[in-house]
Amino acid sequence: MKKYFVANLKMELSLKESLALLKKYSSYRFDKRKKIIVCPDYLCLAKFKNSDKNIQLGAQNCAYLDKGALTGEISPQELSSLNVNYVILGHSERRFLNENNLLIAKKVKAALDNNLKVILCVGETKEEKNKKFTKSVIKEQINSVFSSLSKVEMKNIILAYEPRWAIGQKKPCLASQAALIHQFIKEFTVKKFNIKVKVIYGGSVNQDSLIDFDKEKSIDGFLVGRASLDFNQFKKIVNLC
Ligand code: PGA
Repeated sequence: MKKYFVANLKMELSLKESLALLKKYSSYRFDKRKKIIVCPDYLCLAKFKNSDKNIQLGAQNCAYLDKGALTGEISPQELSSLNVNYVILGHSERRFLNENNLLIAKKVKAALDNNLKVILCVGETKEEKNKKFTKSVIKEQINSVFSSLSKVEMKNIILAYEPRWAIGQKKPCLASQAALIHQFIKEFTVKKFNIKVKVIYGGSVNQDSLIDFDKEKSIDGFLVGRASLDFNQFKKIVNLC
């Protein structure tokens, strides 16, 4: 089964640095069984020519409308016209800026309507985890998006389990713990929506933590933040799996 590796460059690099890094990504021949999706910022997406096609491009967010009076937003239609294939939605750093499930659901629909595939991030805060709300929070995050979609649309969504307390830390959450949640998400989506989803893990992934994760069959890949800024490290992560 194909594994997914998503590089989320966030807002860490200058345009010049992003373009140089993307050149490294796109000129490397990754194992064909692995899908590599690189998500730089919008400026880089507009400028980068993905001529080698060894990677696919993703955006880190998009607006919920194609056009309109939305100061500072980026249209999913425009992203699609730039040969962007994916968009990350519901990332915890967007939820932190008050994006709620309703808005995220609208964004997902707008993205899918423009033929963008969606990497939908779900996950609980530390507080929710301590209160044992993890599963109910995730169910709500999935329900709010999936309830209004057709099966064909749902097939174009990859879920990323990103426990919010494990992002930007020294270590990811325990692989066995993540695997249980992945399994839960898979069972829930089959039961409720009759759909088999891919679930990738994100949150402080690095080459050292991978060995444990790779053993877990319910993990279909990784969403990598900091470690994707160093191409050699990202390459090692991909090659280790
Ligand atoms: P991190 O970021 O790997 O730096 O923790 C992951 C993410 O935010 O998606």
